[in-house]
Amino acid sequence: MSACPATETQAGGAETRTRAEPVNNRVHIFDTTLRDGEQSPGCSMTVSEKLRMASKLVELGVDTLEAGFPIASDGDFEAVDTISREFPDVSVAALARACTLDVERAARALEKAKRPRLHTFIATSDIHLKHKLRKTRQQVLEEAAAAVALARRYVDDVEFSAEDATRTDLDYLEQVSKATVAAGARTVNLPDTVGYSTPDEHAELIGRMARALGDTAIVSVHCHDDLGLAVANSLAAVQAGARQVECTINGIGERAGNCSLEELVMTIRVRQDRLPFEVGIRTEHLYPASRLLSELISFGPQPNKAIVGRNAFAHEAGIHQDGVLKERTTYEIMDPRTVGVPESSLVLGKHSGRHALRDRCEHLGFQLTREQLEEVYRRFITLADRKKGLLDEEIAGLVRQVSGAVAVR
Ligand code: KIV
Ligand code: ZN
Repeated sequence: MSACPATETQAGGAETRTRAEPVNNRVHIFDTTLRDGEQSPGCSMTVSEKLRMASKLVELGVDTLEAGFPIASDGDFEAVDTISREFPDVSVAALARACTLDVERAARALEKAKRPRLHTFIATSDIHLKHKLRKTRQQVLEEAAAAVALARRYVDDVEFSAEDATRTDLDYLEQVSKATVAAGARTVNLPDTVGYSTPDEHAELIGRMARALGDTAIVSVHCHDDLGLAVANSLAAVQAGARQVECTINGIGERAGNCSLEELVMTIRVRQDRLPFEVGIRTEHLYPASRLLSELISFGPQPNKAIVGRNAFAHEAGIHQDGVLKERTTYEIMDPRTVGVPESSLVLGKHSGRHALRDRCEHLGFQLTREQLEEVYRRFITLADRKKGLLDEEIAGLVRQVSGAVAVR
């Protein structure tokens, strides 16, 4: 990517701030699967692939869909432009560094959007200022405000991100946040760019900025998962006053990824007693969205990934299978159908018990006597000891060996 050229100086003030939305306990879901997610290794998508994914994200009900970084490539420009035309009802965001060239390119890519959001950013931590930008705090402050003011010439909905916010001096971060709101930003995003924060620390930072900005802007979070805390940090931020969370399907994103959309949303849905917030996500589309993304990029979530992993609703231990067969809620805190998984599965392996085996045999159409079940179970355990898990055909084979039975259906 070309170096970010010098920006214009302060380009005019913003109109008087009015109360921003969403308010109260509604948490705005800003999906960046097609931008932060897409820019990570193994995740790049063509424009038509991005369109397919965008359609799923719209179906899912995300509030804002960040479609790309238009200055980065023609493909990203086209993705923002095409998604803006195809999906007029969703707010479409385009990313731009805090410089004229980027902001103008993002604005052009958003020209056809009915609900455009221009998202501009610059790093604010001393570590980035010294080694990457080689700029003073004053310069960065001015460039941030100027970029926001320029963006406001094109669109009403401008978001400013203080990159590496969690390693930024807090007084300075507050100064930058207020300056960008004064210049016209409606949303101030405070990214944990390097995934360094802890939930308590993040809550302190967000709480302070939310108090400082009051109702002049939405405070947003964007957490990376380098220490595996992206979801926990995002939730802590929401409890401290953030009303937008930036996240991705399957948690894809730079390095260890971003806050996982499905984990964040389901934690809020399942734990309403502790997290009385509202999100506009239609959760039954979570699993299909995860599957589609896995098909489009070069990898899927790990099998034990919460919510959407292959094992998220699979039980192998005999005690668990017995419990689930008696009453699902003994070992399941969510009904799999609420996230679009058709049903939980009982994986028959060496840890499984007779109850699950009999259930599977019945499912396959076999009615066994107690003695037959005992013998099938004995053979099953011998085989399962050598294998990772038995397929239905193998179980049916064992039943036939023991009883000569033919399934009744
Ligand atoms: O991680 C980050 O800081 C970002 C910003 C550009 C929002 O992705
Ligand atoms: Zn990021």
